[in-house]
Amino acid sequence: MARHELYPMLQTKPTNLHIAPMAAQHLSAVVAIDELGHGHSWCLNTWCQELADPKRLHLVAIASTERSDEAGNGEFVVGHAGLIFYADVAHISNVGVAAEYQGQGIATRLLIELLKRARNLGAGSASLEVRVANKRAHRVYSRVGFQPLGVSESFYSKPREDALVMSIRYLDQPEVAERFAKVLATLP
Ligand SMILES: CC(C)(COP(=O)(O)OP(=O)(O)OC[C@H]1O[C@@H](n2cnc3c(N)ncnc32)[C@H](O)[C@@H]1OP(=O)(O)O)[C@@H](O)C(=O)NCCC(=O)NCCS
Repeated sequence: MARHELYPMLQTKPTNLHIAPMAAQHLSAVVAIDELGHGHSWCLNTWCQELADPKRLHLVAIASTERSDEAGNGEFVVGHAGLIFYADVAHISNVGVAAEYQGQGIATRLLIELLKRARNLGAGSASLEVRVANKRAHRVYSRVGFQPLGVSESFYSKPREDALVMSIRYLDQPEVAERFAKVLATLP
């Protein structure tokens, strides 16, 4: 999908950003965000399996503009984040935000909403791996409250790279909820 088809109103700052469970109608935009962002995505078949699996949870950030484009599209997906439940641990599987909308707190909002929903579904902690060179993602995860646990050597291929392993514990404790509220209060 061409970038102009995905984001027809790039000059218009998105309003009414909201976060919702990912559904089939979001998948073409999600795949495009990942392909344009880092060159690859899960295929549609894999995404459909993810959506059908009760142990997975995927959210999308949807921006709406005040006026719709010629095709009547006033809403479009600008980011997504997901996880898999391993017993009471929620493992973040992916996070992506369209380049045009990065730096507006969208990944931060998605992660906090994902963690709140995971906590409500019984998760006590969350974990993730991230490429050691992806400093921007490290900062987003740290801001939300993830702490580094260690390095998993050669975890990634194409290109081969170590992963930083991070986790956040005690999702059901008030301190975590307070941190989320403080972080959200700083976002635009
Ligand atoms: C990593 C990624 C998900 C971050 O998405 P994002 O929506 O830009 O993240 P946020 O806006 O929440 O935070 C990113 C930046 O915005 C800044 N920001 C957030 N809220 C802000 C605010 N209120 N005012 C100014 N800046 C703000 C943050 O400070 C941060 O900047 P930093 O580089 O100094 O840390 C995005 O860059 C991406 O999709 N990358 C490609 C895929 C990827 O790497 N995924 C993660 C690994 S799986």
